[in-house]
Amino acid sequence: MFLTLVLLTAPTFFTLAAAEQAYNESVKYDSGLMGDSPTQSYVAATDFTPVQLNYEVALTDEKAAKISSGLMFFATTPDAVQPGPLIIKQDGTVVWDGGAVFPQSTTSFMVEPYMGEDHMIVWSGQLSGVGYGWGSWHVLNTAYEEVATYTAIGLPNNTLADMHDSHIYSGDLATMTAYVTQEYDLSPYGGPKNGYILNCVVQEINITSSEVIFEWHSLDHVDPSESYTSPGLTGSDSSSPWDYFHLNAIDKDDSGNYLISGRHIHTLFYVDASSGDIQWRLGGKNSNFTISKDAEFSWQHDGRWRSASTISLFNNAGTIGQQDRVSSRGMLLNVDTTAMTVDLAQEYLPHKNAISRSQGNTQILENGNVIVGWGAEPYFGEYDSAGNLLWEMRFAYDNVQAYRAYRFDWTATPSTPPSLAVTGSDSNRTAYAWWNGATEVATWGLYGSSDSGESVNLANATRIDFETPITFEQLEDYTSYTVAALDASGQVLGTSDAVTA
Ligand SMILES: *[C@@H]1O[C@H](CO)[C@@H](O)[C@H](O)[C@H]1NC(C)=O
Ligand SMILES: *[C@@H]1O[C@H](CO)[C@@H](O)[C@H](O)[C@H]1NC(C)=O
Ligand SMILES: *[C@@H]1O[C@H](CO)[C@@H](O)[C@H](O)[C@H]1NC(C)=O
Ligand SMILES: *[C@@H]1O[C@H](CO)[C@@H](O)[C@H](O)[C@H]1NC(C)=O
Ligand SMILES: *[C@@H]1O[C@H](CO)[C@@H](O)[C@H](O)[C@H]1NC(C)=O
Ligand SMILES: *[C@@H]1O[C@H](CO)[C@@H](O)[C@H](O)[C@H]1NC(C)=O
Repeated sequence: MFLTLVLLTAPTFFTLAAAEQAYNESVKYDSGLMGDSPTQSYVAATDFTPVQLNYEVALTDEKAAKISSGLMFFATTPDAVQPGPLIIKQDGTVVWDGGAVFPQSTTSFMVEPYMGEDHMIVWSGQLSGVGYGWGSWHVLNTAYEEVATYTAIGLPNNTLADMHDSHIYSGDLATMTAYVTQEYDLSPYGGPKNGYILNCVVQEINITSSEVIFEWHSLDHVDPSESYTSPGLTGSDSSSPWDYFHLNAIDKDDSGNYLISGRHIHTLFYVDASSGDIQWRLGGKNSNFTISKDAEFSWQHDGRWRSASTISLFNNAGTIGQQDRVSSRGMLLNVDTTAMTVDLAQEYLPHKNAISRSQGNTQILENGNVIVGWGAEPYFGEYDSAGNLLWEMRFAYDNVQAYRAYRFDWTATPSTPPSLAVTGSDSNRTAYAWWNGATEVATWGLYGSSDSGESVNLANATRIDFETPITFEQLEDYTSYTVAALDASGQVLGTSDAVTA
């Protein structure tokens, strides 16, 4: 055991530049000369090859004062070298690479208040290949221990939870999305009479008791004629049902009712919790609202209440082969449910106009700043409340995508110990220390033990990256080494297992 080290004198730390910080407006990265998916790599932590980031729009000193606190959360799609959930710092260095823990496709991944405390929820499962999936949600505490999992209960064909959305309410209630394939007469919509359709299901369950609290099936309330898609080549086979609705977000308000996003209906539905009836539609063919021209949206994602009279969403404004505007954008809408009018409160535009044909999100932070994840386009950025872009980062040149990107204040210390590797020979040795997921490590202290069992502090180093090198000179024979992770106040957070070199 190591005791807390008290800082009596100026600490003797050496500091190197982080090797794998985000590049700063690298033209080479942006022109694809580094490949479709540049990666970070480490000397000893070779199990980890997360994506390398590049600032598209640099964070200048002037803007640095305006950014919000917290870490960035996003999950890269299977085209990445090491796909999976990632937590990164503002400098682009990795805090947690969950790719090894969740090797199956992860999309949604966020911090939610399970049992009243911060937990991470991570979807993992199988993707259909056409925009939905079957899997389950994993609830991890701030020690990265899985404390619960949940999925949809009692649906036809044992259909599991889809990856689009989940949130936790009242301690242990969870909403989720599910896509159920069923037989359907598609002849009124230009498809086969003996066809197949996806019935989009909203389910809320009690995670603890496995009780279903609420269930809503899109086909009971929304006719396929409201869709902006047609069966086309889909619908004739049970393996390719027509996705007429495309459920991608559920938000529960203080009165317990649900705001439900149907991307292929271009509509947010406000659904009564006790009857399941639709109280109003915002957008689409049967909108109850008069929507001002600049507040119109289509193919949207991530509709959420931000106050009793504002809703944020990500307006894709396009899909494969279709473009409704010059660019996708994040949006904040003023929603007047008395006058039944909607207008634009604010929009958040990317540094370069682009249509994100799928995915994306808009997160309004406590200080009013906004994070927008561009979905199929591999970048995300932060805005001030007036819509000014503060910075934007790209995480791939091409192919790799992230369903959503979020900013969360997340304080975590893994229950597994830090890792250590010692290389080199006597007069010139380097130890490499890392601790996947630890958010609070400020410095590392390296210790050597001799046969007598005495432990000597050989060197210290400031944490500079996911992996930190600690160089030292070996003056005596040590049979083993350990490294201690210390927080900013000098408190020991954890100690590695002993390693020999
Ligand atoms: C990145 O470049 C911008 C200028 O484009 C500069 O203002 C900023 O300080 C640079 N950031 C870093 C971390 O070097
Ligand atoms: C189960 O799925 C198959 C297609 O995979 C479909 O034909 C069948 O109708 C589904 N069953 C139910 C009860 O929905
Ligand atoms: C969920 O179920 C458990 C076990 O029955 C119960 O203790 C808890 O209060 C329920 N949660 C809510 C929010 O009702
Ligand atoms: C919304 O429109 C539907 C039909 O167009 C109507 O039945 C319903 O009352 C309207 N709801 C509101 C809140 O205006
Ligand atoms: C120390 O070892 C590293 C490789 O581990 C090497 O690059 C460096 O040149 C060596 N320095 C000296 C002074 O031998
Ligand atoms: C490491 O830091 C501690 C705390 O500041 C200090 O007491 C100790 O002397 C340092 N060790 C080395 C080898 O510099």
